[in-house]
Amino acid sequence: MWHVTRKKFPAGPSEGLKRWSLGPLNNSPLEYFTKIAHEYGDIAGLRVLNFKTIFINHPDLIEEVLVTNARKYSKGRVLRANRHVFGEGLLTSEGDFWLRQRRLAQPAFHRARIASYAATMVQYTERLLESWRGGEERDAHRDMMRLTLQIVGKTLFDADVERDAKEVGKSLELLLEIGANFRRTIFVPHWLPTPANLRVKREVEQIEKILYRIIAERRASGHDVGDLLSMLLAAQDEDGSKMTDRQLRDETITLFLAGHETTASTLSWTWWLLAQNPAVEAKLHAELDAVLGDRAPTLDDLPRLVYSGHVITESLRLYPAAWGMARLVVEDHEIAGYPVTKGMGVAMAQWVVHRDPRWYEAPEEFRPVRWEGDLMKRLPRFAYFPFGGGPRQCIGNAFAVMEATLILATIARKFRLRLVANHPVVSLASITLRPRHGVRVVLEARQKKGVERFFTGEQSAVAD
Ligand code: HEM
Repeated sequence: MWHVTRKKFPAGPSEGLKRWSLGPLNNSPLEYFTKIAHEYGDIAGLRVLNFKTIFINHPDLIEEVLVTNARKYSKGRVLRANRHVFGEGLLTSEGDFWLRQRRLAQPAFHRARIASYAATMVQYTERLLESWRGGEERDAHRDMMRLTLQIVGKTLFDADVERDAKEVGKSLELLLEIGANFRRTIFVPHWLPTPANLRVKREVEQIEKILYRIIAERRASGHDVGDLLSMLLAAQDEDGSKMTDRQLRDETITLFLAGHETTASTLSWTWWLLAQNPAVEAKLHAELDAVLGDRAPTLDDLPRLVYSGHVITESLRLYPAAWGMARLVVEDHEIAGYPVTKGMGVAMAQWVVHRDPRWYEAPEEFRPVRWEGDLMKRLPRFAYFPFGGGPRQCIGNAFAVMEATLILATIARKFRLRLVANHPVVSLASITLRPRHGVRVVLEARQKKGVERFFTGEQSAVAD
């Protein structure tokens, strides 16, 4: 049993909750959550404006919320406030409707099915690299965004969205920028014609136009190509009715948004971390040279790209694209002996738990090597939860890890990405955690070396 600290949690009923202002949450949410954890420990009940919110910072308590008592919660306020964007898609829907849709979508994410996406992931990455030149300066984040959007489009909807990637990417960026203002998201109804709301509406319509086109093209072709869109189109209710275009729009916009920006940001943070940790980068290169030599990676290489996998795992620990999660209590119960009542919010932050020194040695350091032993097995289940957990766990977990590893391997085999001096790489914690001004890099074509070294136990020369 892990020790749970309960510093300063008000002992009495929730009315006694200490007040915290929402301002700092808006301005620097990562610091806000960290500060609460430092001041109050594993569980803290606070009043943030009118909302009674329980902040949970211990893996066992997070498990209670996400797994043991999952039925006593619904999604949190920020996601609910974004329903006009995601509609009744998988991320935001609830209850029986969500369960039905989850079961429908699940086959598209089964291991065997995902395996068939590997070639597309590598092929699209190679296509991107054809336009890369040594010495050139680029925004790696922009490239990753475009690439992962194209991959989601092709693998799940068999749509070549290359021509749309720029527009969707821009619209999405604006949505996330606007969504970073939690106060506005929660308190300003989305139908009020404020400048921000009108902008959101315009950007959503822009994305919808593209999605409705993809749906109409597939309906017209009548082809069942076996992808997710075909499965959704073929699905029938018990009464024989099929999904409306609106439902299809909700599922597709959710998968496009949830499924591309998260992986893109993970990769962008990875390039940034690698560029600052030359020993890690060298070890990664040595593995790629040893395993791949002169060819691009395939699905079969993944079991041998062990260190590459650890790089992604560690990157998701330090810069989890889903940096925090929230729930609303729908049924009264207790957490760690404290009463929680209907309408209260519960907040958990991967950002905080992943950097807790109780679970990680030198938690602020980028050390993929920490994953080489049995750390994952030794950790409490929710000390590492970049993909959430319980019934609402990310459906794209395996998809994302495979995609990130293959893209990393395909690119790092050929290029080293050097940071452009003086370009600020700053995090923006909106619904996701992404580099606000991108990650500007100079490309350096790689010369291969170190193949033998990796296998002759000289890794220490390059070990992190
Ligand atoms: C590194 C990449 C990714 C990260 C860090 C990530 C993280 C997460 C997290 C934490 C959740 C749970 C949210 C909650 O419980 O409130 C989630 C849900 C979800 N993710 Fe991901 N995700 C990633 C990639 C993907 C991909 C590639 C797809 C699809 C192609 C995807 C689709 C979804 C969907 C549909 C849900 C809602 C699932 C449900 O409630 O049934 N995600 N993701």
